[in-house]
Amino acid sequence: MFVTITVLLSIATSIVMAQPRVLVFTATTGYRHDSIPDSISALQARSGTDGVDFEFTEDPTRFNGDELGRFDGVMFLSTTGEGVLDSSQAQAFHTYLQNGGNFVGVHAATDCLGGEDWYVQTIGTRFDYHPELQPATFIPLNKTHPSMVGVPDRWTFTEEVYNYRSDPRNVGAQVVLTVDESSYTGSSGSSGNYDQGVPHPIAWYITDSLGAQPPTDGAPGTGRSFYTSLGHLSETWQDPTFMGHVMGGLKWALESGTTRWTNGTALVGAVQPQNSNTSAGSSVSSTMGTSTANGQASTSVSGTGMATSTSVSAGPMSSTPANSGIKDGSAVGKTAAVAGAIGGVIGLML
Ligand SMILES: *[C@@H]1O[C@H](CO)[C@@H](O)[C@H](O)[C@H]1NC(C)=O
Ligand SMILES: *[C@@H]1O[C@H](CO)[C@@H](O)[C@H](O)[C@H]1NC(C)=O
Ligand SMILES: *[C@@H]1O[C@H](CO)[C@@H](O)[C@H](O)[C@H]1NC(C)=O
Repeated sequence: MFVTITVLLSIATSIVMAQPRVLVFTATTGYRHDSIPDSISALQARSGTDGVDFEFTEDPTRFNGDELGRFDGVMFLSTTGEGVLDSSQAQAFHTYLQNGGNFVGVHAATDCLGGEDWYVQTIGTRFDYHPELQPATFIPLNKTHPSMVGVPDRWTFTEEVYNYRSDPRNVGAQVVLTVDESSYTGSSGSSGNYDQGVPHPIAWYITDSLGAQPPTDGAPGTGRSFYTSLGHLSETWQDPTFMGHVMGGLKWALESGTTRWTNGTALVGAVQPQNSNTSAGSSVSSTMGTSTANGQASTSVSGTGMATSTSVSAGPMSSTPANSGIKDGSAVGKTAAVAGAIGGVIGLML
């Protein structure tokens, strides 16, 4: 029952609330990480609490203007190899970034499309090598960035410590996470004697990336980029600290102001309802009475719905009715409207 309710809740949430939409691309033509299915599950599990709609794909034909234009962000997750996109798909992705689309790269995403200069500039650099998998200690450089909130001063876990072929700071990156190079072995130098800069970059963000210049005429600007080289092991994707790091970086990128989630005149992104004062709010709230009358099951549904709606309603949403007619005095405004709508939809489905 609980599982069913959870599924219904996420369906109801996506019907009722407009959320930023993110395409997660996990294609590989090189090394394939065993953790990909677990990383997908972990992101999906955060969808409701973080208020992000994910779509997962390995299909490069999704990289065309029409498809990409529906997304507020694109995440490359452990993508490897030069062949993950062909030249026209790569061009469509480049245009998406120029249109204001946001980008997040995770772990091996620096190990694909290395021949595309705009991609390398957008993500910040190219992967070079990593020492063997072993415990290492990572150190935040900027604890105010959303990707660093919750990361301890010394964060130790088993990970591949990436080294790169260039310093991402050369293309505008602000490095938010480094590594204590005395905390693991094999840290000296680089296999190709590249200069990746100091302190050793591990995660960073870029605004107005060179790779997305110039912005398309009519776009509010180019999007944001966030990259973390962490995320090799499945168990890392079970770690709430790591998930907070990834989701914080993603949500920072989505708040660029250059996509439809936050800007009605943007060229790309999930289309927002023009006015959330829709018939859904009122018709659903009357249904909620019916579902509450059904007893125990529906009581727990509306309780869960209330908790969920609190988190999904965070962020810059369009205006909501101040009072949707729900009688529950503990819920007001936006939260009440959403909870009522969710409860009502579930009531209808049950
Ligand atoms: C830390 O990150 C914030 C963004 O969250 C940024 O405004 C600030 O300039 C950064 N500080 C440093 C020292 O880079
Ligand atoms: C939204 O886009 C318009 C048009 O491109 C731009 O002028 C405006 O500054 C943007 N608003 C925000 C909040 O970024
Ligand atoms: C909200 O909905 C009510 C009832 O349908 C309508 O009378 C009112 O004009 C709407 N408000 C706005 C701002 O659209």
